[in-house]
Amino acid sequence: MIYHSALKKFKEWKKEECYEFQSPDISAYVFNAFDGIHEQIKTVDFIYTEPPFLAGYKIFNDRANPTESRKWSELITKIGTTLMELDKPCYIMGGGQLKSSLKGWKNQPVLSSIHEGAGFIFYNKTIPDFKPKTTLSLIKTLYEQYDVGGDITCGYGLLGYMAKKQGKKAILTDYNPYCIGYIKQESSKW
Ligand SMILES: C[S@@+](CC[C@H](N)C(=O)[O-])C[C@H]1O[C@@H](n2cnc3c(N)ncnc32)[C@H](O)[C@@H]1O
Repeated sequence: MIYHSALKKFKEWKKEECYEFQSPDISAYVFNAFDGIHEQIKTVDFIYTEPPFLAGYKIFNDRANPTESRKWSELITKIGTTLMELDKPCYIMGGGQLKSSLKGWKNQPVLSSIHEGAGFIFYNKTIPDFKPKTTLSLIKTLYEQYDVGGDITCGYGLLGYMAKKQGKKAILTDYNPYCIGYIKQESSKW
């Protein structure tokens, strides 16, 4: 498993629109978060997602959607509205800029800082005393409590990787078809 931002040769993977397999129950679809939420994501028990940081937004657009002209703040506002309407437990990796863009949420989001102002933003938090130090420990703990996780900016599928390790399910979406192609090709090795 490699961290998404380190992947410079992403075009080594084939583009795919959709990938589904029954065992171990990982599905991945191309879907743009500006368009709301994929029907399948509506069925999950919780959301774990890592939207782009402002500094990486242009790079992700250059890879997936070079004509995108909408601003990062518009994407975050849209994600915030979508997740508020979904009304499931949400765990978002981000920083202060992201948190302040989610101000409209009816439950005030809480940032639990882990690294230089970045951390986990909780919404409808369901594990009150848990203060995760890493992404992996957060996802592991969520899968001890829930069966199906959803990620709306899934990149190369860390949530699916953790679901497979714990015998659970993940429904993943990203606007970049290379990410879905990567998940199709690599997830058999997870
Ligand atoms: C920080 S990465 C996510 C890393 C991911 N957790 C992983 O395991 O690789 C942010 C992701 O957001 C995706 N993204 C950016 N803008 C998006 C949009 N409008 N709709 C859906 N996905 C988007 C990028 O393609 C990228 O994969």
